[in-house]
Amino acid sequence: MKIYGQDEFTVLFSRMKILEQVEAIAKRIKTNFSNQSDGRPILLICVLNGAMYFFVELTKMLSDKDILIDTIGLSSYRNGVDSAQIITIVKKLDIDPRGYHVLVVEDIIDTGLTIQFLRNLLVEAGAASVQFCCLLDKRPRRMVQVDIQYVGFVMENDEFVVGYGLDYNGRYRNLPYIAALHPRMYKK
Ligand code: IMP
Repeated sequence: MKIYGQDEFTVLFSRMKILEQVEAIAKRIKTNFSNQSDGRPILLICVLNGAMYFFVELTKMLSDKDILIDTIGLSSYRNGVDSAQIITIVKKLDIDPRGYHVLVVEDIIDTGLTIQFLRNLLVEAGAASVQFCCLLDKRPRRMVQVDIQYVGFVMENDEFVVGYGLDYNGRYRNLPYIAALHPRMYKK
């Protein structure tokens, strides 16, 4: 049985720290929810697979709110750490977003191309509004200007992170914390 070696990565954000941030985001969403006048449920969309741990924790903290949840699967990250320019949908939404206030929940925003793609998709589909929430805002490689309403952690360094849903070639998702993968693990 292969287990992850502790020398493969450095822990950046502990499970406790993550929970604190998720709680803070949930609080802000609730406040904004109360200020929303039209009373319609908000449609929360989880971007698979990376955001799933974050999404589950966040939506459980919104249990006193009327929300709808859905998932979308995108393929945009084909070569390990290099972001591909072409984004394709591998799992469509089940709920028609037309007329809904939508909150997209992402694991990490890097170049910004993924959320730009999602914004265009949702606006074209007739969403009443589109907002973004991400656990990690990794800024050094940003290619497009993006407006993110809720951010857990800002990353000023260009590090490849894993854990808490984030993977490298499918591995490390189940780490309970977020860690920077040692470059020797992907620069071969
Ligand atoms: P963007 O389109 O470049 O903003 O990339 C967003 C997607 O790239 C995220 O949803 C992740 O799937 C992936 N990604 C970017 N940086 C990392 C990272 O450090 N670790 C794991 N996945 C990443």
